[in-house]
Amino acid sequence: MSTIEVCLVPELYQYRKTAGNNHIAVVVDILRATTTIVIAVAQGVQKIIPVTDMNKLSEFKKNGYLIVSERDGLQSDFADFGNSPLQLINANIKNAAIAISTTNGTRALSVVNAADKILIGAFVNISALCSTLRTLNQNIVIVCSGWKYRFSLEDTLFAGAVCENLTGDNQFAGNDDSVIASMELWKQAKNDLLNYVSSSEHYQRLYSLGVGESVPYCFELDSYPVVPVLEGGTILNYSHH
Ligand code: MLT
Repeated sequence: MSTIEVCLVPELYQYRKTAGNNHIAVVVDILRATTTIVIAVAQGVQKIIPVTDMNKLSEFKKNGYLIVSERDGLQSDFADFGNSPLQLINANIKNAAIAISTTNGTRALSVVNAADKILIGAFVNISALCSTLRTLNQNIVIVCSGWKYRFSLEDTLFAGAVCENLTGDNQFAGNDDSVIASMELWKQAKNDLLNYVSSSEHYQRLYSLGVGESVPYCFELDSYPVVPVLEGGTILNYSHH
């Protein structure tokens, strides 16, 4: 039976219970990095390069990449887009090459250094993700991006939803306390998700910054049924990789 566990912030990945490399890491940053990435892949971009050091983005810009960059919720001055799913939904980015750097999401992607595969999850692709995870049938470590090394309500709710989906039969065992806790949290929220999550710190932060217009899109389950994979430093559509 394969196992599933949840790292509530990226830094816990190094202390994970799942031994060795034979696991799939699912990185999530609901507000908004992995939602943005899923939507961009669904829009048919050629590739997405996650970049932790913003200073490296200028090189990508010189090489014709579109730049998606955000710090503390706000779009970076030189960027073509902030980390806003709505901006990308309304943009013509098919076949574009994108470089992305965000406050927490791209760092979380860089932390996951021992996984066999790194998949990118969000509410907008959750069923396609779970179906892919069932097909692969490997151990799973869900890595929540959080906010500056701290717990994120919305990322943990997503982890609980994935755990509820996958531990219902005998394919995956979720005995980890983080799985139990995230599933309990999901049970509280699932019937009125947007209202429940409206009390989260980052939800409130985005609206107070005047960039809350994308937030509802981040909680629309299965609106973009594609599964991005990070492989060799490049994010592609898993089904096409
Ligand atoms: C993050 O990387 O923490 C978020 O994506 C930041 C944001 O877009 O608000």
